[in-house]
Amino acid sequence: MMQILILGSGGREHALAWKISQSPRCSRLFIAPGNAGTSLVGENVDLSPGNFEAVEQFVLKHRVDMVVVGPEDPLVQGIGDYFAERPALQDVLLVGPRKAGAMLEGSKAFAKEFMRRHEIPTAAYRSFTRETVEQGKAFLTSLAAPYVLKADGLAAGKGVIICLSLEEAFATLEDMLLQDRFGQASATVVVEEFLHGIELSVFAITDGVSYRMLPSAKDYKRVGEKDTGPNTGGMGAVSPVPFAGKEFMDKVEKRIVNPTIEGLQMEGIPYCGFLFFGLMNVGGNPYVIEYNVRLGDPETEAIIPRIQSDFVSLLEAAAKGTLHEQTVEVSSAFATTVMLVSGGYPGEYEKGFMVTGLDKAEGSHLFFAGMKGDGMQPLTSGGRVLAITSLAPTLEEALRQTYHNASVVDFRGKYYRRDIGKDL
Ligand code: AMP
Ligand code: GLY
Repeated sequence: MMQILILGSGGREHALAWKISQSPRCSRLFIAPGNAGTSLVGENVDLSPGNFEAVEQFVLKHRVDMVVVGPEDPLVQGIGDYFAERPALQDVLLVGPRKAGAMLEGSKAFAKEFMRRHEIPTAAYRSFTRETVEQGKAFLTSLAAPYVLKADGLAAGKGVIICLSLEEAFATLEDMLLQDRFGQASATVVVEEFLHGIELSVFAITDGVSYRMLPSAKDYKRVGEKDTGPNTGGMGAVSPVPFAGKEFMDKVEKRIVNPTIEGLQMEGIPYCGFLFFGLMNVGGNPYVIEYNVRLGDPETEAIIPRIQSDFVSLLEAAAKGTLHEQTVEVSSAFATTVMLVSGGYPGEYEKGFMVTGLDKAEGSHLFFAGMKGDGMQPLTSGGRVLAITSLAPTLEEALRQTYHNASVVDFRGKYYRRDIGKDL
């Protein structure tokens, strides 16, 4: 039996908490800081995941056996190293990579160089700094439109700019490098070739030597229907991905997942936790758009309900290096997730509105994201408010159920995309 602490506060963490709380191996579950949904399946703790000393004190005081890190920030800040170095925490398991491994998400330039070293398919690219702006422009001139410019560091998911004209690309490059558009995160900018294809999110859990594939998902990133408007954290997800059949997924494992895990080992980078491969399917061949060192949101809300194996055993095996002994059973059902968001998101929006109808939304999983307060009458507290997930034998049935409940739950300014999964 284990006492488990999850760090994070979004829909992803509610889905993780929901799954972990069902495990016979979990005796007590804490979520820090959690949200109104996680309080339904565990105990919320008022502490910040970025305050490692406070996390340590809590873990020791409450005899936590395992910490599961939801978002990337604490990982990139080095919570894994902190736990590895503190004598009092030697027996505490932590699911999440150390800083060196988290660089796969924390630095796009590092990720691109890593892929080059290990011959992992990705868009052609070069990195530039303040001193090499002119070379950057020359490289842009050698590419065809559209142009992809990426801030090297973490920029809350906003650091990728796609420019349609060369003039716009020049101006954006200067803005990022010379005017610090994303602060220190854009001190280095990766310029890369635009890949034409269809995107998907592929997940694995690893102990650094062995890995197990988790279900894949298609994420809908743009706020508007037919993929229009600004990028968001994600407006919905579907799993499995109909265009990622066995042949494609075999290529993904052979060309991308295996070489990534072998590359980490070869470079002496220990890695425990999740790997999230943001891929482009280009004419049947997978290319890496980005690595993340965590699960996706809202992909987690779609894939977790499909996993039938005991999740705590998987997490424990990843942390202990015994993943080769584990299997992952996945339901063949389709999962569809639609995000209800606050009107105006991802721009300015109001919050503090009562969420109604939660008790009437039957037949779906309700994973709370930006919701605070208690139980079944919470208030909106963020841009992404609620993930509604339904499972059914067909995509159509799962969508029908999800959209039914998307109309039942309500709050002032509610918005959601009505075309999730309709392109598949
Ligand atoms: P990222 O933050 O790296 O996921 O990038 C944000 C979005 O930009 C991705 O989800 C893609 O839709 C798009 N994108 C990034 N890199 C490329 C590329 N090389 N070619 C085409 N689209 C891209
Ligand atoms: N849904 C994409 C992400 O979590 O980054």
